[in-house]
Amino acid sequence: MKRIVGLLAAAVCLAQAAEKIAGGPMVVNLKGRSATVVWVVEQGSAKLGTTPGAIDKSAPALEVRQTSFSGLAPGKTYYYDVDGSDAGKGSFKTPPSGAEPFEFVVFGDTRTRHDVHRRVIASILKYSEPEFVLHSGDLVSDGYDSAQWPVFFDIERELLRKIAFYPALGNHERNNRQFYDFFQVGTPYYSFDWGTAHFIVLNSDLGNAASTPSAKEAFWQAQKTWFEEDLKASQKASYRFVIAHHPPMTAVSRRQAGNPEMAALLPLFDKYKVTAGFFGHDHNYQHYLKDGIHYVVSGGGGAPLYDVANPPAGITVKATSVEHFCRIRMNGDTAKVAAIGVDGAVLDEFELHASK
Ligand SMILES: [Fe+2]
Repeated sequence: MKRIVGLLAAAVCLAQAAEKIAGGPMVVNLKGRSATVVWVVEQGSAKLGTTPGAIDKSAPALEVRQTSFSGLAPGKTYYYDVDGSDAGKGSFKTPPSGAEPFEFVVFGDTRTRHDVHRRVIASILKYSEPEFVLHSGDLVSDGYDSAQWPVFFDIERELLRKIAFYPALGNHERNNRQFYDFFQVGTPYYSFDWGTAHFIVLNSDLGNAASTPSAKEAFWQAQKTWFEEDLKASQKASYRFVIAHHPPMTAVSRRQAGNPEMAALLPLFDKYKVTAGFFGHDHNYQHYLKDGIHYVVSGGGGAPLYDVANPPAGITVKATSVEHFCRIRMNGDTAKVAAIGVDGAVLDEFELHASK
């Protein structure tokens, strides 16, 4: 009997080991003392063609595996193993309890030019040691397409398995369910704390947020109310950061004044003393300073570059059309932001200061 049980256990182990990991593992929803480990497995595939037997496309059947841990200690590195294989191992660090130094990265618009996306990830791994990563949206070209997600996950594998990941929803995700499932996002806008800093992730993709104009308006109002409440509740934080896909201002000629809803939120940034906003959507690097608040567009993760031909007068610090990521080194009352190109060149550098 013991032998049969042993054989069965071995068979289960083999079956588990044989599962192909198509995404992750990665840590998401890391909030205070709890974290969720997610990995995506491929369970077969489906083929598609316009005539029987003529196969044009194939897409994997993806299944999300996730498990949550609580009772974690602050400022500790934890190592996880989801299936006993090398591909199933990863680590993450929990947020510190106080104002200890930490580092995070912001980048986005990784949806196309996979070779460039790969170089940006290599650059992050080479020039930064982030504890977490904020993706400013447009992870893939079409969030509905199950064939695209394993490509994204393959390129980001070595980064995702050593950080906590917080993505913003881009228009190319098309508000698809897969985004919510992979990253265990309950609502498309959320917030979290890291040490004494507060982070708010908004869903600026109003176009896909609902199907009718009145439902879109209701969504935006609900998000705005939540945003203000969250800002109000975070006034004791030493830094407040806002991340969203669509920028409130841009140097891209054809997109000026293209995101009026985001621009209309700026009085809340002022009123509740946001330290800096990070955005994507425009495939370049832009840095503005307006009424003491830094606004950064970081959309240089791989998608084809856009011009910066019309930088808004009076507020532009830097605008350059180049692939990059942003590294933020937090150290007590001062934080250093650097925009870094794929070759390690520092494109822009500035300091942030904690709220008094
Ligand atoms: Fe976009």
